[in-house]
This record gives sequence, C-alpha cells and structure tokens, in this order.
Amino acid sequence: MAFVTQDQIQKFHEDGFLLLEHFFTAEECESMRRQMQHIVAGMEGPPHCRTEFSTRPEEQLQAQGSSDYFLTSGDKIRFFFEKGVLDERGNFLIPKEKSLSKIGHALHAYDPVFKQITHSSKVQQPRIGGEVTPHQDATFLHTEPLGRILGFWIALEDATLENGCLWFIPGSHTSGITRRMVRAASGASTCVEFVGSERVYEDSQFIPLPISKGGLILIHGEVVHKSEQNCSESSRHVFTFHVMEAKDTSWSKENWLQPTPELPFPSLYT
Ligand code: FE2
Repeated sequence: MAFVTQDQIQKFHEDGFLLLEHFFTAEECESMRRQMQHIVAGMEGPPHCRTEFSTRPEEQLQAQGSSDYFLTSGDKIRFFFEKGVLDERGNFLIPKEKSLSKIGHALHAYDPVFKQITHSSKVQQPRIGGEVTPHQDATFLHTEPLGRILGFWIALEDATLENGCLWFIPGSHTSGITRRMVRAASGASTCVEFVGSERVYEDSQFIPLPISKGGLILIHGEVVHKSEQNCSESSRHVFTFHVMEAKDTSWSKENWLQPTPELPFPSLYT
C-alpha cells in the first residue's frame, strides 16, 4: 500500500486533485475486473426497459420506472446502460458487456471484492467508460459546508488520451458551485432537476491526466473535471466512489442519493 507524502498533500490542496501511480497492484485490478465480468454475465435488461407498447401512457410509465430505478439504486446493485443498446423487450442489441455506462450504487456494501476495496466508502459508482461533461462532484453530492467529499477514481486499465482519461482545471476547486442537481417534486416529469447553470469552460483550461492501470486519482469535491468519449478500440474500466467528511457536515436531503434504514452510510472511523 502506498503512502501519501506532505508534498503530495500540498499539491492536492493547490490543484484540487492528486495522481498516485501504482496505488493498487495488477492483481487487485484483475480481481475487480474478473468480479465485474462475473456480475455482468448474470445481468438482464431491467424491467422498465421492457415496454412492448409505444402508446403515450406506456411511455410515461416507462419514464417513471426509469426514474424509480435510478432514485432507489443507492442501496442496490443496478445496471445503467448506454443509449440504444436494448430493444423494447429488454433484449441486448450488442454484446451485453459493451452495453453498460455504469453499475451502481451499492457494490461496496454487497459485493465481497468491492467491499474489500471500499470498506469505508459512502457512495460508489463503478464506471465502464464513456464521456462525462465538465462538472464538479459537489453539484451532484451536495454537503453543508460545501464540497466535503473526496472522489476516488481507480484505473482498472490504462486510461489514456485516446480512451477517455480524466481532464482537470487545476485550482478550480476554490470558486464554489453554480449548479445543483436536486430531487424533483413528486409528480414532476423527471426525477431530478438542476438549479442554476454550469459555468462555461474553455477546452484550453483543462489538462489531461493519463494514468496507468492500478493508479488512483483523488478528486476534490469542487474541482472541475471531465472525460472525453472513448473513441478507441480499448476499454477504459474504472472503479470510482466517494467518501464524505462526516464531522460537522450535513448531507443534503435534496441529493438524489439518500442513505436508507437497510443501508446507512458506513463510517470510516468508529
Ligand atoms: Fe466527477
């Protein structure tokens, strides 16, 4: 297990992110990838994707099913797909291991391999790959005081300029947020909505952070980051989760993700 030096801590405070190469061994990465393959092999298209009719009320029910599927996923292992990969009966149109955007959000609680890696995580979202537009995690995971969350982004394979590595605006973690994602009022057409709008960022502000397999990137809750679409032939699997500083911090009731009686947020320190 690697250690973090004072210089690295200083660098994290300056930049809002920190790259730690070779934090996990190749065997730890392979163990996570093998477990993921096992989970995906047993995966089926979720019920809300299986609508055989296309009348308007059915579409609304499907949208509602999709919202519920997302909002109640905090204490379950559920699958989230790229667009257009399932037909109206929930059958896969492409090999199912290539259909996923992410699996979330409670692998850390129920899967032994991921539990081992994230035994202290609050929120986790294993990602398969794909484009993520510029954002701050505090937009989606709101705390009071703001930004008291830390993202862990583990490269299970090399993440390169070609296959969608992370990009950051160094030092952007000090300017607050201008956009929040909150739960929509019941009866609304979407399950969440945005309050405010994202700042406009120039591409030239971002720097890429390629990282090799087993590397870890620590992400400040307010730093602006993104990843480009993976247009290459190589996959870019990552495992990512967040921890929150619980002391003197409140978790917004308006966040999409809420702890449940069955699965409260586990504590890192007792
Ligand atoms: Fe993020």
